[in-house]
Amino acid sequence: MLFSLFLIACDGSSQDTADTAPAVIETLPEVWGVAPAVDINPDPNIVEVELTAAPTTVNWIDAGPTEVWAYNGQIPGPLIQARVGDTVRIHFTNGLEGKTTIHWHGLRIDNEMDGVPAVQDPVKPGETFTYEFVVPEAGSYWYHPHVRSHFQVEMGLAGLLVVHEDEVPVVNKERYFSWDDIRLDDDGTISEITVTGMDSMHGRHGNMLLNNGSTDLPLKDTIQAGAVERWRIVNTANARTMFFKVKGADWRIVGVDGGLLEEPYRTNRERLAVGQRFDLEIIPKAGEETVSLEMHLPKSSGFGYDKYPMFEATVTGEAGDLELPEWVAAEVPAIEESEQEVLMELNVEQTAMGALKWTINGEAYEDSEAIEVIGNLPTYVTIKNLSNLEHPFHLHGQFFQNVERNHLPAEEPGLRDTVLIEGGEVLLLYTNFENPGRWMAHCHILEHAKAGMMTEIVVSEGE
Ligand code: C2O
Ligand code: CU
Repeated sequence: MLFSLFLIACDGSSQDTADTAPAVIETLPEVWGVAPAVDINPDPNIVEVELTAAPTTVNWIDAGPTEVWAYNGQIPGPLIQARVGDTVRIHFTNGLEGKTTIHWHGLRIDNEMDGVPAVQDPVKPGETFTYEFVVPEAGSYWYHPHVRSHFQVEMGLAGLLVVHEDEVPVVNKERYFSWDDIRLDDDGTISEITVTGMDSMHGRHGNMLLNNGSTDLPLKDTIQAGAVERWRIVNTANARTMFFKVKGADWRIVGVDGGLLEEPYRTNRERLAVGQRFDLEIIPKAGEETVSLEMHLPKSSGFGYDKYPMFEATVTGEAGDLELPEWVAAEVPAIEESEQEVLMELNVEQTAMGALKWTINGEAYEDSEAIEVIGNLPTYVTIKNLSNLEHPFHLHGQFFQNVERNHLPAEEPGLRDTVLIEGGEVLLLYTNFENPGRWMAHCHILEHAKAGMMTEIVVSEGE
């Protein structure tokens, strides 16, 4: 397997803290699952990384090698690790045949570094571009191209970027899970990438699951009895909504897209739409031999789920009945009374040629006019899905909170940048539009975005 597991002990420090309160950690936690990027800058407050996007080959199925596109030759791309307030500098080289950019999904950075064609000339083949920004908030983020994304992301271009908190709940290990589905032909080549037929309708679904770039699933490891771990999961697929479930452990969701929660929560099975991230805390249950992470996908009949084990850890050693440590509430801004309102209606039309045109407020990108808003103002954003298919809606450069789903309290806490809106649903979101600039808002089903479901929101400096 070209892409197998990486276990990197950054500094050998592994604190045994299952029953103590959170504390400040001085060093980055031990990470598992994705090979980290090399930081070439000795300054502790600057993370400087060289990234090259280029074609390479992987062995996903026995029938033959697969030509892919990758950052630094690995899928997913290198894990970029920073701390809140760090400067991140990425020297990017385009080794592909076409133009590309890198968009830093979820990060509230300066507009000109957002990596979209609306604010940056795409990087031509053979050329370089340096992205430099300060990472203002901790969280689990990811990066991917924003030029022909439906094609370039499917070819393999996606990576994780984590911003660690200054003060974190100490865990024994952090595990990263980058989930994807890929569509291969029998000989191992990536099936032709188009936005026609079924793909224009539902987006491109794959026929093979990937966990951290591996098709050899479940990934395996050991886990220490009594160890508290943080697991970060991201869905980098073009279109497929996934669900996850943890078995053999006590677990809870402690963070979403934009960072840690005031109050962790737990569900039986959580939905993970494309673009979204969840941070979990887990501790093996006493007496369990394995702890596992499963992907659940709704059966085509519409009833029940097919279950795919993605990760399996054998519990080593023994521990009593330990519990997850006490949670120290993270600060999430209060939802204030609305002073500005934005409405977005998501819909679909058939063009004269019979193709689908996905629209926001009746227009397809780039025919649409930008939505103008005043920055730094409590804003309610209503999104109505007038189509009968789901859309994972993503807003660049800002966080929002899910207030209502179909006029009922959403009960989906935390700061988010991506939210799934099912067919016919109405969502009420709250944001302050704190980050000025020209930001994209779009469906993260990349085929829908390609076929028009994208717009720009211009946020003024505000008062
Ligand atoms: Cu993750 Cu505009 O995208
Ligand atoms: Cu969509």
